[in-house]
Amino acid sequence: MSIRNLDDLLAEGVSGRRVLVRADLNVPLDKQTGEITDDGRIRAVLPTLSALVEAGVKVVVCSHLGRPKGAPDPQFSLRPVAGRLGELLGAPVHFAEDTVGDSARSTVEGLADGQVALLENLRFNKGETSKDDAERGAFADQLAAFGDAYVDDAFGAVHRKHASVHDVPARLPHVAGRLVLREVEVLGKLTGDPERPYVVVLGGSKVSDKLAVIEALLPKVDRLLIGGGMCFTFLKAQGHEVGTSLLEEDMVETCRNLLERSGGKIMLPVDVVAADAFAPDAAHDTVPADGIPSHRLGLDIGPETVAGFAAALSQAKTIFWNGPMGVFEMAAFANGTRGVAEAITKADAFSVVGGGDSAAAVRALGLDESSFGHISTGGGASLEYLEGKTLPGIAALEN
Ligand code: 3PG
Ligand code: MG
Repeated sequence: MSIRNLDDLLAEGVSGRRVLVRADLNVPLDKQTGEITDDGRIRAVLPTLSALVEAGVKVVVCSHLGRPKGAPDPQFSLRPVAGRLGELLGAPVHFAEDTVGDSARSTVEGLADGQVALLENLRFNKGETSKDDAERGAFADQLAAFGDAYVDDAFGAVHRKHASVHDVPARLPHVAGRLVLREVEVLGKLTGDPERPYVVVLGGSKVSDKLAVIEALLPKVDRLLIGGGMCFTFLKAQGHEVGTSLLEEDMVETCRNLLERSGGKIMLPVDVVAADAFAPDAAHDTVPADGIPSHRLGLDIGPETVAGFAAALSQAKTIFWNGPMGVFEMAAFANGTRGVAEAITKADAFSVVGGGDSAAAVRALGLDESSFGHISTGGGASLEYLEGKTLPGIAALEN
């Protein structure tokens, strides 16, 4: 691979230089308290940031959080992230109240060697996500002024053609950070020549989001296990009634077509946990997948399905998992996700967990992160990588 990485930059002798690091610090926040509910993405960039700090670099970190609409919006402030990052680094992180304004400039200018600053949310500026090259470019010019070099460690955002991901590296000497390097190495193994059987588990709510990856993976995998909200559109395509479960009516035909072409590789639930309502205390029962009552909605895969999926996973040598099997945030509907996750940890396979939600599920369910081969910080990014798409952030590093 023709991408330079952090070691190449460090080898140049960087003490006293300013380095702009694009991180993906887009962490989930508690809606009520605003507290960080999962700091996995913050921890994931520590190796890069610590290496720069130790090398005596003035480190300027930037990131997005959530999807603000191109203007400041306090609920999406990165301030709490600066606090947590400082705790994890063991040194205060200087927080800039804006992204490229007066506060950012004075914060960056005030940095001593080995100190870290975090700029406010990149998406408070229209230029970050603009489709207009000139508008993005103008914002990228301002950002690029904060560094003598650029490190991309925001794997979760490499699929976005955004100023900080795609346009800044065109303006500064650029390298991949430790996280991006590792993610690309691991996912590259899956797209290359994975050890077989190669079993992929997909969940999450929408089939339409996963269609492209299903198409791309079908010829490569030995088995494709489908659970989560998206399974109901497939069950409907099999001719079953799904009650009030999540259903993408306009995808039924596509799913039927995929099932026909899958050569039996696709495994669907044979039972589901069906509830009266989308609520943690809703009345619920396990029912056969072809017997979902008309007034009920499926919120998890059932135990027989878990056993079947686990049997398939136990044979695997390579596993990729993206998307929860049910509404794991509610205890009553967490067993499917837990069961599949446990089966993955027990398999004698190289396992990759892709995605914000599945990674968060691993931690929320108290599973041992080290029993997985790799937990990706990218949701959309890891799926698009597996689809074989050109990722704007990676392409920018290759140039
Ligand atoms: C993510 O959470 O998937 C990444 O941080 C990218 O965020 P986005 O989907 O809002 O671009
Ligand atoms: Mg996303």
